[in-house]
Amino acid sequence: MKRVSQETIEKVLNDVNILDVISPYVSLKARGRNYFGLSPFRTESKPSFSVSPDKNMWYDFGSGQGGNAIQFIIEFEKISFGEAVKLICEKHGIEFIETGATEDNNVYDSLYEIHELACLFFQSSLHKKEVEDYLKRRSIADSIIKKFRIGYASDSWDDMLNEFKGKFEESILLESGLFSKGKKGLVNRFRNRIMFPFFNLSGKVIGFSGRSISEKEDVKYLNSPETRLFQKSKVFFGSYLTFPNIRKNQFAILVEGQTDFLRLFSEGYHNVLATSGTAFSLKHASALKKFTNRVLLAYDSDSAGINAAIRTSYVLLQSGLEVRIIDMKEGLDPDEFFIKEKAPNEAFKALIKNALHPVDYLVLKKKALEGGASDQSRFLDEQLLEVIQIKDPIIVNDLIKRFATKFQIDEGEILKRIEKIKPNQFTERSISGEASQDNPNIILSDTLLERAEIELLKILIQNSSMKDKISISDFSNQYIKEIATKILEDSQEISISSLLDSFGSSPKLRNFLASLIIDYSEKDDLNLIVEDCLRVIHAEPTRQKIQLLRSQIQQLEDDGQQPSTDLLKELAELQKNLKK
Ligand code: CTP
Ligand code: MN
Repeated sequence: MKRVSQETIEKVLNDVNILDVISPYVSLKARGRNYFGLSPFRTESKPSFSVSPDKNMWYDFGSGQGGNAIQFIIEFEKISFGEAVKLICEKHGIEFIETGATEDNNVYDSLYEIHELACLFFQSSLHKKEVEDYLKRRSIADSIIKKFRIGYASDSWDDMLNEFKGKFEESILLESGLFSKGKKGLVNRFRNRIMFPFFNLSGKVIGFSGRSISEKEDVKYLNSPETRLFQKSKVFFGSYLTFPNIRKNQFAILVEGQTDFLRLFSEGYHNVLATSGTAFSLKHASALKKFTNRVLLAYDSDSAGINAAIRTSYVLLQSGLEVRIIDMKEGLDPDEFFIKEKAPNEAFKALIKNALHPVDYLVLKKKALEGGASDQSRFLDEQLLEVIQIKDPIIVNDLIKRFATKFQIDEGEILKRIEKIKPNQFTERSISGEASQDNPNIILSDTLLERAEIELLKILIQNSSMKDKISISDFSNQYIKEIATKILEDSQEISISSLLDSFGSSPKLRNFLASLIIDYSEKDDLNLIVEDCLRVIHAEPTRQKIQLLRSQIQQLEDDGQQPSTDLLKELAELQKNLKK
C-alpha cells in the first residue's frame, strides 16, 4: 500500500466527528461533556471507555489506552494505518489520496489479502455438478450463496497453494491457516468442502468453516485455526451483516451452526448470530452486549444442544444479559425445523413467543422435578454452583426466586446452601473471564517535580499561547520531555488528534499522552499555575543540592565529626533561596 497523503490524514482527524467513527462499534451514552460505553478491548461490566468529542479522542480508563479516531480503528479492526484511514474515508465521504513510495505491507494487510483471494478462489470453484446438487439439496438459495460469499474448496491438495505460492511469503501462507504442513511441505487445508467465510465487522474475510460434502469424510466441519485475524472465542458467523439489525430489533437469536444461521436469515430473521463450533464464551457475551442486552437461544434440541444452551445461558447471565430459550421438537436444529415443519414460520413465531427462561428450560429439559428428593437436592446444588459465578445481585436474586418456586422451598434455604458452597468455589472462575491487561502507561514516580512537569505539559497541550513561557529544558522526565519537545518545536498550532497521531508508532507514549489529555479540564489562572510549576521545576537543582549537603552533614555526624561552618552556612543559604 502506498503512503496516505498528509492532507487526507488531516481531513480524517479534523473533519470527522470521532463519535461518528466510534459509535458503530461501541454503544455510547452522554455523561457530562464526554460519552461513555463498555470497553471494546476488554470484558467489563461497568463502562470505562470514554470518548471526548471536544478533544476528538477516546480513552479507556480500564486499560489506560487511548488515541484518536484512526488509532481506534487500527486497534479495533486490527488493520494497518493506511487501511484504517481508508475505511474512515469511505464511510465519511472523504477522498482517499495516496502518494509516492510504497510502504512495506504489514502482516495484517497480507493476511487480509490472502483471505480475500482465498474467498474469491473458493467462490469461483462453485460450478461443479456435485457441489451445485449439494447446495440445492440443502436448499441454500443463490442469493444467500452470493451474500455470504459461500464457496467450494476442491479436493485438490495444492490448487490454491500453487496459485498463492508466488504471491505470498511462506510465513504468510503458514500463518493464514489456509494450508497445513504435511511431510512433503504445505498442502491445502480445506479439501472437498463447502466453504463458509467468517467476516470481521468491516466485512473483511478473516477465516473459514468448511463443511465436507462427502459422506465418507468423518470430520464434518473443519474450521480455520486460531490466527491473528481469527479468534474463535469472540467471533460470530455472520455478525457483520446482522449486528446492525440486532441493535435495531433489540434482541439477537443465537444459533449453533452456520446452516441454522443461513436458514433463519433467509426466512427473514436478520438478527441472528452463530458461534459455529466453539463454545459461547464471556468474550462472545461482551461483544454481543455492545449491541443488545437480550438473547434468544435457538440451539439444537438434541441432548448436546440442550447442554450447550444451558451452559451458554449461564455465561450470558454472568455477563448481565437477559436470556430466553426456544424449545424445539426433539432432535431438530433450526435448519431442519424450517425444512420439516409444515408451516414453519408460524410455528417458529410461536416458539419465540413461548421461549423459556433458563431456569424453566433447564428444569424442564433435565426433568429435574421427576427424580427423588435427593436427586432434586443434588440438581439444585449443581445449579447453585453456576449461580454463584454471577456477580450482579439482582440477577442472582431473580434466579434464587425462580429456583425456590420450582422446588417449592424457601428462598432462605437456597441462600443457606449458597453460603455453604461459596467459600471454596467463588473466586477463580468468576474473574477468569476478565482480560487482565497491564496498564500500558509509563510508570511515573509521583514526585513533586514530576507532578509539576505533567501539569505543565497538560497546559502546553491545550494552550499553545503558553508556548513562549515554557522551554524544552524545563522538562527532565524523558517521556514528558519527548512530548513537550514535539509541541514546542512545531511552529504551528498542533491539534490534539494530530499530536496523538505523531506518536502513533509508540503506543506507550501515545497512551500516556491520551491519559494526560482526557483528564484535563479548562482552568482559570493559567499564568499562575504555569508560574507555580516552573518554580518547582527551577528549584529542583537547589533541592537536590540541599539533599546532598544534608546527607554529607549526616554522614559526618554519624562518624562523630563536626560539620564545618561553611557547610552549614551553605545549607542555610540554599534553604533561604528555596523559600523565595
Ligand atoms: N461444528 C464444528 N465441528 C464439528 C461439528 C460441528 O465446528 N465437527 C460446528 C459447525 O459450525 C456447525 C455447528 O458446530 O455448524 C453445529 O454442529 P452440528 O449441529 O453438528 O452441525 P449442523 O449445523 O447441523 O450442520 P449440518 O446441518 O451441515 O449437518
Ligand atoms: Mn443441521
